Amino acid sequence: MRRPKRPGADTSHEQTDARLGRIVRLLTDHATVVVSGTKIAEEIGTTRSDVWRLVQQLRAIGVEIAGRPATGYQLKSIPDLLLPDMLSSLLRGTIFQHVHHYYKVGSTSTAAMEAASAGAPEGSVFLAEQQTAGRGRGAHQWHSAQSVGIYCSVILRPALPPSEALILSLAAGLAVHAAIQEIDSRINPDLKWPNDLLIDGKKFCGILTEMNAEVTRVRHIVVGIGINVNQPSFPPELQALATSLRLVSGTEWSRVELCAALLKSLDREYRDLLEKPGTHESILRRFHERSSSVRGREVTVDGSDEFAGVTEGLDSRGFLQVRTAQGLRVVLSGTVRPVNSVVK
Ligand code: BTN
Repeated sequence: MRRPKRPGADTSHEQTDARLGRIVRLLTDHATVVVSGTKIAEEIGTTRSDVWRLVQQLRAIGVEIAGRPATGYQLKSIPDLLLPDMLSSLLRGTIFQHVHHYYKVGSTSTAAMEAASAGAPEGSVFLAEQQTAGRGRGAHQWHSAQSVGIYCSVILRPALPPSEALILSLAAGLAVHAAIQEIDSRINPDLKWPNDLLIDGKKFCGILTEMNAEVTRVRHIVVGIGINVNQPSFPPELQALATSLRLVSGTEWSRVELCAALLKSLDREYRDLLEKPGTHESILRRFHERSSSVRGREVTVDGSDEFAGVTEGLDSRGFLQVRTAQGLRVVLSGTVRPVNSVVK
């Protein structure tokens, strides 16, 4: 008889991922010595030849491991992988207690939406080293090269009406902002409504918020966050539009540290929104403070309906307001593009 699937688990794929994670953990815990293939095989419950195959897989994704079956294995440097083992202790006390990690997946948001529909608990986190079909808003793709970015989707099940989802999505942008400032206070990202973060006018983070809801009740929300962290460069067609934290700061960032800071910050925003009166207003106020474009910026709006005007702040639900020649318009969807510099 086949055993029922644990909600949110992807059987053989997750088993391989867990084995890779345990090898990295074992080698990290014994970083100063060579660990024999036999010991690793015993620890993770497999054969020596399987250990060799898994080590080759780790090498292929950039984990530097010296050695071979006859001599044993040793890490050359501690890898910056977003493994549950590396993150769990940093996430103690948060809602993020179920961390799933993929070396390669189509989209962490697709994985999270499927898991949520199958009953995965609130606070499940889906992380990938690489996405082969990373999705952005609209029909856009999210460029998701191996182990240089953070590709993270979380499942939330808030007792909120669907109309509050936008505020939650704006709060996710504030959480990314706070995490970056916590690690390097010299970097002050600019929030672009609804869900982009820019530095020097170039995008380094995008957020995709998807929802499964009834008219009055959210069933689940998946917040998918993509951050360009250690990309050393971008293809020519993206150079004017995209940047990474490494490019702006001149140094490599620890993805584990940033990911933990992000999830802790998202945990605070989310709990406050559900529990603390006045948080909805505080999110709107802070979004205004950290965005150069929600007020006084000449923009065009493309979507089902195209128009141009000057931004006039967010309304009480978090939608962008634009003053046009015909009056005040509220942007419900579509892409907002600044026309030129700030209009005073
Ligand atoms: C956008 O800027 O349009 C949003 C981009 C969101 C990308 C993230 S990466 C993690 C998660 N998985 C996806 O497929 N998309 C989101």
